[in-house]
Amino acid sequence: MSEPDTESDVLARKLFSGPIAFLKSAPQLKFLPEAGVPEVAFAGRSNVGKSSLLNKLANRTGLARTSNTPGRTQELNFFDVGEPLRFRLVDMPGYGFAKAPKEVVRKWRHLINDYLRGRQALKRALVLVDSRHGLKDVDREVMKMLDEAAVNYNLVLTKADKVKASELEAVERSTANEARTHSAAHPDIIVTSSETGLGIDRLRVAVIEAAL
Ligand code: GTP
Ligand code: MG
Repeated sequence: MSEPDTESDVLARKLFSGPIAFLKSAPQLKFLPEAGVPEVAFAGRSNVGKSSLLNKLANRTGLARTSNTPGRTQELNFFDVGEPLRFRLVDMPGYGFAKAPKEVVRKWRHLINDYLRGRQALKRALVLVDSRHGLKDVDREVMKMLDEAAVNYNLVLTKADKVKASELEAVERSTANEARTHSAAHPDIIVTSSETGLGIDRLRVAVIEAAL
């Protein structure tokens, strides 16, 4: 038997099937929208599946642009959820993309770090980690920065459809073990696939509970 719906489940269903609209792209901090509502941001290495997961969460294709080639998202992209506006989702460029020109990597890193550290409206970050690779040092650096800035975050495993169940279990366990050593990390790991929809309901509830 399934568990009864909580208030968050009902609200999540309502908000994520209602109006969600692209607001603006910010290539630099000075172009950020006014910080009037709570924000939840998608962070993670290039190509980990940030834009795909945002689309899946919002239950629509093509809201955020995705690509096979790492480095697709190059600015902070803001999406308004709810009518009237309830909160914003923020798609970010990837970090740790070694193949991009050094200057570009530096620019993105500053943009991401400054936003994550300094944004009052930011209620939670989602730190996405590819199920095939697990946590990398560059993820640990971002996690440490979020700990120091006291910004709560969820570690979210992506592309779960790409690994065997036994591998998935192992990567979930090791990620959870590391989460426990980080003060701002939520202890539960959310395992997702934008391909199959695994974990999307759970992620919606986590976003709602963080934002509202
Ligand atoms: P950048 O914007 O470049 O940092 O990348 P991103 O993190 O936004 O990744 P994006 O969503 O563009 O996805 C990268 C590639 O991974 C695309 O080819 C997606 O189709 C694929 N992808 C994303 N999520 C999944 C998933 O859950 N399963 C599978 N099999 N492929 C996925
Ligand atoms: Mg992207």
